[in-house]
Amino acid sequence: MKLKRFKNYHELSDFAAGDIANSIKSKPSLVLCLASGDTPKLTVELLVKKLKEEKIDYSKITFIGLDEWVGLPPTNTGSCHYFFQNKLIEPLQLKPSQYFLFNALADDFENECVKMDRFINDRNGIDVMLVGIGMNGHIGFNEPGAAFNNLSHVIELDEITKAVGQKYFNEQVELGKGITLGFKHLLNAKKVFMMANGSKKAEVIKKAVEGTVTESFPASIMQQHENGFILIDDEAASLLSKPH
Ligand code: PGA
Repeated sequence: MKLKRFKNYHELSDFAAGDIANSIKSKPSLVLCLASGDTPKLTVELLVKKLKEEKIDYSKITFIGLDEWVGLPPTNTGSCHYFFQNKLIEPLQLKPSQYFLFNALADDFENECVKMDRFINDRNGIDVMLVGIGMNGHIGFNEPGAAFNNLSHVIELDEITKAVGQKYFNEQVELGKGITLGFKHLLNAKKVFMMANGSKKAEVIKKAVEGTVTESFPASIMQQHENGFILIDDEAASLLSKPH
């Protein structure tokens, strides 16, 4: 794992978008997994802009959505589906065969997980994965205690996730479970970016970077990824004690 520090959110997002755009340039059939949420938002916007402006061929990429709130329809503006539909799938005109997002209204979630795992497997795994970090150290919906060897699974959401998650919705919603890729996918991904910005993330970044690697603090798994990069701005880096 390596740490990369940037002056601010824009520089951090611009770096991530540029790196992903270059990866698509060198491998047009790139398998890309992205998280939704406030942190990756600008990266996704800048990525779409770069791909178009630089006339990079993105017609062969595959896109995978990291997670979803169970029970929410894709029309809910706070759903991950809505985020990707509007920020990535429509702007890039991706074909349905080119992406897979968890169906949060599925009758059979076990089967939904099998479908996701198969989709990834059939494409020889994830090339680039970009994730955020939650206020409880989660990645996707791998909540504290989630096993490092999990594939896709459904999980009871942590209280912090349910409370913090309200920020994505226009009105109070009942959040219960999440469906998510597991850490086996993250460890197997050829390259992983975990990004964080702002002083509110300083404490979780300190734990992820300098703390013990443990399933009780999920983001610590990044320390085990040989091609993992933690991208942070100065504010998120403010509590780090060692020079990195
Ligand atoms: P955020 O979410 O990017 O909206 O802060 C991070 C996360 O919960 O993974």
